[in-house]
Amino acid sequence: MEESLPLENPSLSRRQLLNFLTGAVVATTVSAALYPAAKFFVPPKEVGEDGSIFARDANGKLIPASQILAELPETRALVAGLAGEPTYLTVKEDGTLHPWGIVDNCTHLGCTFPWNAYENQFQCPCHGSRYDSEGNVVRGPAPLPLKLTRVSVEDDLIRISPWREIDPRTHQKPWWV
Ligand code: FES
Repeated sequence: MEESLPLENPSLSRRQLLNFLTGAVVATTVSAALYPAAKFFVPPKEVGEDGSIFARDANGKLIPASQILAELPETRALVAGLAGEPTYLTVKEDGTLHPWGIVDNCTHLGCTFPWNAYENQFQCPCHGSRYDSEGNVVRGPAPLPLKLTRVSVEDDLIRISPWREIDPRTHQKPWWV
């Protein structure tokens, strides 16, 4: 006959308790062993609840963050961001990605533009607008700073999220929200 535990749960026998504890230890050990494999086979969720996505290249392939980070500091890398919008990423001096992405869409009439590393500006070829390295207007006719996105790294992929917080350049609510 099984001996009952006298205290908190009189209906739980010592054997049942031992079985439960053994099962818990086994389950924990198996979970810990399988976690790396499960993580490998189950990639991070591609579309986040906030509408974020992983950056892709011009051919639609996911871009490893390590590939961008292998570039020189202050290099601008152009990737496909939210809704496929071309978005500039920047490698910082410390070899990490800048937390802002700058959307390659002129706030005048929507042209795309190159980064001029020599003049440290984005320069729109359509009507001559210029923006500094953070996307602030240096010369019009562009009326507004460039749109920002949030950039982070997740399992060596680059997550691009909508920027809905205060614009750190103007200290005001972003014009695109
Ligand atoms: Fe860029 Fe007009 S669209 S300056």
